Amino acid sequence: MERRRLFEVMLFACLFVACAGRELKIKDDQSSVYNSTLAKILVEYTAAVYTADLTSLITWTCSRCIDMTVGFEVVEVVVDVQNCLQAYVGVAEDLNSVIVVFRGTQEHSIQNWVEDLYWKQLDLNYPDMPGSMVHHGFYSAYHNTTMRPGILYGLQKIRKLYGDMQITVVGHSMGGAMAAFCALDLKVNYGAQDVQLMTFGQPRIGNSVFSSYFKTYLPDAIRVTNGHDIVPHLPPYYPLFPRKTYHHFPTEVWLHDIGLGSLVYKLETVCDDTGEDPSCSRSVIGNSISDHLVYLGVNLQAETWRSCGIVTDTNMKKYQSDLYGNFILLRDPNASILKQSAAEVDDSSSLQGS
Ligand SMILES: *[C@@H]1O[C@H](CO)[C@@H](O)[C@H](O)[C@H]1NC(C)=O
Ligand SMILES: *[C@@H]1O[C@H](CO)[C@@H](O)[C@H](O)[C@H]1NC(C)=O
Ligand SMILES: *[C@@H]1O[C@H](CO)[C@@H](O)[C@H](O)[C@H]1NC(C)=O
Repeated sequence: MERRRLFEVMLFACLFVACAGRELKIKDDQSSVYNSTLAKILVEYTAAVYTADLTSLITWTCSRCIDMTVGFEVVEVVVDVQNCLQAYVGVAEDLNSVIVVFRGTQEHSIQNWVEDLYWKQLDLNYPDMPGSMVHHGFYSAYHNTTMRPGILYGLQKIRKLYGDMQITVVGHSMGGAMAAFCALDLKVNYGAQDVQLMTFGQPRIGNSVFSSYFKTYLPDAIRVTNGHDIVPHLPPYYPLFPRKTYHHFPTEVWLHDIGLGSLVYKLETVCDDTGEDPSCSRSVIGNSISDHLVYLGVNLQAETWRSCGIVTDTNMKKYQSDLYGNFILLRDPNASILKQSAAEVDDSSSLQGS
């Protein structure tokens, strides 16, 4: 008994010393890119995108549209029925930021989706970034669907109404992968100045060359991982094949618990700038789906897996805007819900400040 207690005290002391540097980093370093309060707020925004009832989403009355997100003004909901994708855009005046949130695919069960992740190939050259490889499917989910023109349309509309604002892009799981491609696109192709990215439980999306480019454009990007969440471990990382392997972009923030007897400490470890810090989520086995579905105490489960599960009332059905049934719902802050077709988006216009 005595010995056990002594051991625990020593373990605690060791942990304290070992972790002190990182913990101090969070609290003392003003330039630190990670803000845990902001992460909690953004995970709540991310949870809301899983709302199936679009009417309650666009009016921000959904059951997840609560707590620290109260007062949010949704401007647009983008729905790609064909590919089962969903996103929304709006303005959080308290954060002084536009928020763009992506939901991932949900046409299969999450187990099937995770199993497929093992086999994703690096099969596309990212445009204009020599040596940069990404997964075609992740790239296309943002670039070759209603998502991209839809989001850009919403951002241009917000810019007209509110002027230049910071743009915060977030997403969970597959939605995190799309959020990453979106944030990069806004920087690279649209000259947006102030773009922040935070993803939760995001899979790897490209190789190490891509990650280096990514870091240059989005040095403050945060990739939150949780405990044993399996998805950030996929597609696999093979350190012995640096040219061929997937490689995460930095900076990972690993949420994990340390148990000391009956006490559990929650740690938020800010990881190194390589993207593949061996002492963060890579130090444990990625074997948990439940750790994938709850981040910072917020449930990120879809209301309806296995089906696209998009519910609109008959009033909204008539706003479907293209051949495939994809549509964009726009909400004028002063008016009722209006319809705009994605085709109206002028691809050449810029988001850059004048
Ligand atoms: C963290 O973010 C919250 C919400 O945006 C903000 O109120 C707070 O000042 C931020 N904290 C720091 C240390 O920047
Ligand atoms: C984009 O999607 C269409 C069908 O949705 C497909 O035919 C086309 O090959 C895709 N293009 C790329 C570059 O993936
Ligand atoms: C909404 O109404 C207010 C007051 O009438 C006006 O100042 C503002 O420009 C309007 N906003 C939009 C988007 O029309």
